[in-house]
Amino acid sequence: MKKLGVYIHVPFCVHKCSYCDFYSVTQLFEAGEYFRALKEQIMSFKSYLKDWTADSVYIGGGTPSCVDPKYIVETMETLKSVIRFVDNPEITIESNPGTLDTFKIKSYLNCGINRLSMGLQSADDDELKMISRIHDKSGFESSYMLARMLGFRNINVDIMYALPGQKEETLMNTIDYVTSLDPEHISFYGLRVEEGTPLASQEELLAKIPDEDVQYNMYIHAAKRLEKAGYTQYEISNFSKKRMMCRHNCRYWKSGDYIGFGPGAASFINGELYSYTKDLYGFISKPTDYFSNVEKSEKLTLDQQATQYIMLGLRLARGVEAKEYKLRFGRDLEEDYGEKIQKYIDLKYAKRTDKGFRLTRAGLLVSNTILSDILDFS
Ligand SMILES: C[S@@+](CC[C@H](N)C(=O)[O-])C[C@H]1O[C@@H](n2cnc3c(N)ncnc32)[C@H](O)[C@@H]1O
Ligand code: SF4
Repeated sequence: MKKLGVYIHVPFCVHKCSYCDFYSVTQLFEAGEYFRALKEQIMSFKSYLKDWTADSVYIGGGTPSCVDPKYIVETMETLKSVIRFVDNPEITIESNPGTLDTFKIKSYLNCGINRLSMGLQSADDDELKMISRIHDKSGFESSYMLARMLGFRNINVDIMYALPGQKEETLMNTIDYVTSLDPEHISFYGLRVEEGTPLASQEELLAKIPDEDVQYNMYIHAAKRLEKAGYTQYEISNFSKKRMMCRHNCRYWKSGDYIGFGPGAASFINGELYSYTKDLYGFISKPTDYFSNVEKSEKLTLDQQATQYIMLGLRLARGVEAKEYKLRFGRDLEEDYGEKIQKYIDLKYAKRTDKGFRLTRAGLLVSNTILSDILDFS
């Protein structure tokens, strides 16, 4: 039986943060209609999924924790009725700390959700205000403690760096604060200024974003601090305690199969890469119409899959492996990339390993530039 990751998109937020371009709307009153449509879409995949077993589910957003938890529970029931699960699946829900309460957390645990991801971003209340978050540090702490007390044994906390007005010192305070709470996993993202977001036109805030050298130091020093606190870096932006890596996201970075449901969700299954249009109302009106919902779809050739393997695999700290590359794509890693990667090895941005090659921490930080060069994107 082939293993699969399942992604469920919940396109609602209480408030749109100024920097975020993940697909979500604030019309929470549409949640009932949305989850009815989502159920229809998932049910329509029943026969397609009969040969697959789910080993991870990721309920992401948007903010899945801002809707009535009954919708999450029902969605989990629907999923269980269309696909088999492995014995101990990883089931994650993303949350904004400003939206959690006892009833929600208990509902998640009762329907089998065993991993909670919480978006803190910063433990400095001024920085949180600057990026228009709906919670403060103390609100986050109460939610975190509650989740622990009620039984979550696997918690991720999202932290962001390069925020407007952020200093290396305040970032380190955030890191020390989060590690003192002892979560199993920490995601550490550099702020991306996304086109079309309110932040992209807020000149005053943009001027307060730390410059490239400061950002470099923030990344390198924070990564070292996280390691010292017992977290191993396993991907550009991800750190975890031993054996607590996010199974769902690793599947994605290792070019494994996953299927997404809901507007904006992406899938890679049986060599086909496709994503749904970011259109809540279009989705609600025709949830089972694949052709009107799918925005982009491409059957990847084996060569394209090999390129995807390099593109995603070099995000991982372990890098890419020659044996796996040969086995999956029938190609020789050294022949395809040996010469191109040498330049970056000389610059100390990459290293050969006993299995293939990987990027160094400094290389991970500029991975987009390295990848577009070695994969010949122009
Ligand atoms: C889809 S959000 C879900 C979490 C939840 N909605 C929240 O904000 O608390 C996942 C994470 O992506 C990160 N993120 C969102 N926009 C970003 C951006 N422009 N640059 C870097 N990280 C970003 C944040 O750390 C956020 O917690
Ligand atoms: S960061 Fe989270 S809460 Fe803010 S708009 Fe994006 S998905 Fe919504």
